[in-house]
Amino acid sequence: MPHVAQRTSVFSESVIREMTRLAIIHGAINLAQGYPDFPAPAFIKQAAIDAINADINQYAITWGSARLRAAIAGKTRRFYGLDLDPDREITVTCGATEAMMAVMLAVVEPGDEVIVFEPFYENYVPDAAMSGARLVFVTLHGPDFAIDPDELRRAFSAKTRAIIVNTPNNPSGKVFTRGELEQIAALCQEFDCFCITDEIYEHILYDDHEHVVMATLPGMYDRTITISGLSKTFSVTGWRLGYVLAPPILSNAVRKVHDFLTVGAPAPLQEAAAIAIETADDYYPELRGMYAAKRQVLLGALREAGFLCHSPQGAYYIMADFSALGFEGDDTAFAHHMIKDIGVAPVPGSSFYRAQPGGHSGGASLVRFTFSKSQETLETAAEKIATL
Ligand SMILES: Cc1ncc(COP(=O)(O)O)c(C=O)c1O
Repeated sequence: MPHVAQRTSVFSESVIREMTRLAIIHGAINLAQGYPDFPAPAFIKQAAIDAINADINQYAITWGSARLRAAIAGKTRRFYGLDLDPDREITVTCGATEAMMAVMLAVVEPGDEVIVFEPFYENYVPDAAMSGARLVFVTLHGPDFAIDPDELRRAFSAKTRAIIVNTPNNPSGKVFTRGELEQIAALCQEFDCFCITDEIYEHILYDDHEHVVMATLPGMYDRTITISGLSKTFSVTGWRLGYVLAPPILSNAVRKVHDFLTVGAPAPLQEAAAIAIETADDYYPELRGMYAAKRQVLLGALREAGFLCHSPQGAYYIMADFSALGFEGDDTAFAHHMIKDIGVAPVPGSSFYRAQPGGHSGGASLVRFTFSKSQETLETAAEKIATL
């Protein structure tokens, strides 16, 4: 029998989706996968219905409909002061997921090193495997997921092609400060490498935390590739809409990969996304307020039950340390216990850390919960967590 390609053997099926499956089998509340169980805003849904009825149903331009690229350019100018050419610097993709894969395939040569902070969003591992990148990890240290500047510097070398920065961060809830981004920017310039940012949670921030866009820092525009999308901001994870902002030479390479991966994102949904972005400036503060309230419900329930958790500064996840609960076993055993016996599904912390020799992992006493759920779901989950 012929065998399958080696590159598929270095990653396994998403642990997050596996937890979702277990949650369904055991009837547990799914606080594992980061998608809302509440309705998407009416304005974006109506715009999609109207677009289908108006017969915007054929292939859009490969790099995104003109209206959506113009809307993204307008928003990027209003919010971040970046003036982008929609014809040459913006590419619409099938989600931030495709965006990241297309970017890695476009800029990484096999054997190049790509730096990633851990805990990390699990997709970066298969992205690296497919593109041939070797990941170099820099650990964010608890309880507040701080960067050690010496460790960060040691990660860079002549082989570094890029660093991936996800802010606001999944799973830690960290929002990188301007000072931290400046440190990273200085190293990118010294070692002449790219910065790939994943800013999918750019509008989900708490307290007075500010989203700083790496591409706006001095000297960074030409070497930064910014990824974002609609999934989280507009609660439409199933629509598969993301985008890449990058200087023309980089955008050109990304567009070529994107064209042959997917041709383009769904045309009627791009129209709806354009209308949503054109009109949503007042919606973003509402979104923040909604998630701030949800954060308090879950944080309160977890702390009450004895978890140690750092309050997230952005995104919609809580990394919770269960070591004070007296449970004998690792994060995977604890997650299974939560699903089967308590009725609430988290994700084992180790899925966000590299596997260490001997099976040890940085996340062995952690599980991640999402609070991207309705008030009712969160309150029921809180009652169940209280039985721990
Ligand atoms: C950090 C991060 N990047 C990207 C994605 C995927 O986004 P999309 O739905 O646009 O593919 C997620 C989804 O959970 C995420 O947490």
